[in-house]
Amino acid sequence: MKTMELVFLLIFFPVTLSVKHSLKYFTTMSSGVKNFPDYVAVGLVDEVQWGYCDSISNTVEGKQDWSQKMFEDDPQHMELYTERCLSSQHKYKAHIDILKQQLNQTEGVHIFQRMHGCEWDDETGEVNGFVQFGYDGEDFIAFDLKTLTWIAPKPQAVITKHKWDRDTAHNEIRNYFITQECPEFVKRYLDLGKSSLLRTELPSVFLLQKTPSSPVSCHATGFHPYRAMMFWRKDGEELHEDVEHGEILLNHDGSFQMSVDLNLSSVTPEDWRRYECVFHLSGAKNDIVTKLDKKVIRTNWVSPSEFPAGPVIGGVVGLLLLLAVCITGVFIWRRRDNGFRPANSSDSSSSDPSSVKDAALD
Ligand SMILES: *[C@@H]1O[C@H](CO)[C@@H](O)[C@H](O)[C@H]1NC(C)=O
Ligand SMILES: *[C@@H]1O[C@H](CO)[C@@H](O)[C@H](O)[C@H]1NC(C)=O
Repeated sequence: MKTMELVFLLIFFPVTLSVKHSLKYFTTMSSGVKNFPDYVAVGLVDEVQWGYCDSISNTVEGKQDWSQKMFEDDPQHMELYTERCLSSQHKYKAHIDILKQQLNQTEGVHIFQRMHGCEWDDETGEVNGFVQFGYDGEDFIAFDLKTLTWIAPKPQAVITKHKWDRDTAHNEIRNYFITQECPEFVKRYLDLGKSSLLRTELPSVFLLQKTPSSPVSCHATGFHPYRAMMFWRKDGEELHEDVEHGEILLNHDGSFQMSVDLNLSSVTPEDWRRYECVFHLSGAKNDIVTKLDKKVIRTNWVSPSEFPAGPVIGGVVGLLLLLAVCITGVFIWRRRDNGFRPANSSDSSSSDPSSVKDAALD
């Protein structure tokens, strides 16, 4: 969020800032990838992963203490997800096969993804839902919750759109899941996991630089919740030029990280002290301000004259980068903001109770 946007929010919502909480499910179905499960589904609440299932284990796993306990205490809820994990695997296998045929793709690696879920505003109670599918990294088809029909951004998805539009019973079930069941789940999960999901934790902030001529990266890791912003300022003013904002990424412990790079190639050394990096966490009183100072920059760069100096720091920076790369994988699709899905033929008319579970999951 930019400073201006925050100012806007503060002006128009002076008393309480309402918070949008989200529950999202990401499903990835792949074909042709060796040593990787064909089907992987993850559940995230407020961007923190709490559940996992794949086509090897075929069992839903809690990924946070609260979700493990929830599944222990409520085996029916676990059963619900496990059934969905199984049933949607079969459905997706059919989807990907049909798509490959339609697109004349006999071999190679193909990926079919779905993102669905809802956002719930804890002040107004407003709910926004979304269901979208992607194929091979591009938007394929999305569900319009106003009309309960499908939107196909590309000609390849038109056959699927017509097929799915006709399946009104399934579209109703989908709508019910997104607008009714999903918001109840978010509230339940936030309550069960409140000690971790609603905690406020400030990050460690470092300045990193690859070589003396690279941009300086201001890196914050370990913060929670993900509603945070970070920027560079010069003489107290936020900078927009020569600045590159990274994405917010999830750490394994459920906290987040992000970085903002500043290109200093046209700044003289005397002017460095005018710059500082500011990290602001939503709900926290104080910002973390880090002054730009050569002495505190961490780097793994070794000048040719002082060879054996930097491997330890290099290891740390390398690990951070590796971690960022690993985690980015999960978020690639989100960033593109798309979903994809191929022609669905198998989940046709459905009025029996089992198809309700199906839709919620599928
Ligand atoms: C599908 O691939 C085959 C073999 O490569 C080719 O002969 C055919 O024209 C292709 N069909 C379409 C619809 O692209
Ligand atoms: C930094 O800025 C300079 C000139 O303003 C430009 O030539 C250079 O490519 C930039 N470096 C990066 C990494 O963006």
